[in-house]
Amino acid sequence: MNQPQIQEDEQKHVDAFNARIAAGKTIEPKDWMPEKYRKQLLRMMSQHAHSEVVGMLPEGNWLTRAPSLMRKAVLLAKVQDEAGHGLYIYSGAETLGTDRAEMIDQLLSGKAKYASIFNYPTLNWADMGAVGWLVDGAAIVNQTALAKCSYGPYARAMIRICKEENFHSKQGYQIMAHMMSGTKEQQEMAQDAINRFWWPVLMMFGPSDADSPNSDDLMKWKVKLYSNDDLRQRFIDRTVPQAEAIGIKIPDDKLKWNPTTRHYEFGEINFDELKSVITGNGPCNKLRMKQRNDAHKNGAWVREAAIAYAEKRAKE
Ligand SMILES: [Fe+2]
Ligand SMILES: [Fe+2]
Repeated sequence: MNQPQIQEDEQKHVDAFNARIAAGKTIEPKDWMPEKYRKQLLRMMSQHAHSEVVGMLPEGNWLTRAPSLMRKAVLLAKVQDEAGHGLYIYSGAETLGTDRAEMIDQLLSGKAKYASIFNYPTLNWADMGAVGWLVDGAAIVNQTALAKCSYGPYARAMIRICKEENFHSKQGYQIMAHMMSGTKEQQEMAQDAINRFWWPVLMMFGPSDADSPNSDDLMKWKVKLYSNDDLRQRFIDRTVPQAEAIGIKIPDDKLKWNPTTRHYEFGEINFDELKSVITGNGPCNKLRMKQRNDAHKNGAWVREAAIAYAEKRAKE
């Protein structure tokens, strides 16, 4: 084939791809897609899967210290759900041509990123309430948008995940509500957890739109339907009334309802802190990487046994 012919064919693929996106149709694994679309999605989906998996660590820390059997069962179910979320999203990401083992190697070597919030410590039981309510609440806002994204396997994984995230967020809010109706000491613990988690959760939505280098392409391709700032605003608008309902004070002096825009105005986010955490200097980055690497090493025999069993079954 000559060069002009190749270019013409390539252009036909690009046009068909753009037309599918414009018509609101999903892109499926066997469809032609621009290399940049594939790469950006792979980056996003693997980061998302890593976040689900690393996200189990701060909560796993409290499984053995839950205050009752009921709380322990609920937290255990939630943490197990997160493992499942990781699995769905890794499987979805594999349809883009990269093996799960390779993605996990990138996480373990520190090459791949995961959500910045999991580099903060969980100091006491109230943090389980704060994490469930706020972190999973933020995940719902992000993931509800992703359920309508242009890549079919990603969008479909989000539908089930969002149902589970709703349970996660509610169990966290219920812990908070319960503590806020308890003793003065319990109320102070709940408030302290929100004081520590509020700002890092707002940072989870990523840098401000003006500083978000990959956003333009992702929005053009309908991988992202809303900008970081839009999603952050949506989260604040839905969370502040929930806080008020149980007597939690949001630690932001500038927080104010604007009846004209019908949104909350809020104070300035410390994006230098976000940058520092993303680049490995958060309070728990090193601990999380060590915990994940140890877990991977300690789980080697399980993977080997599962492979041996699968091979035996295949022979039978
Ligand atoms: Fe999750
Ligand atoms: Fe969750």
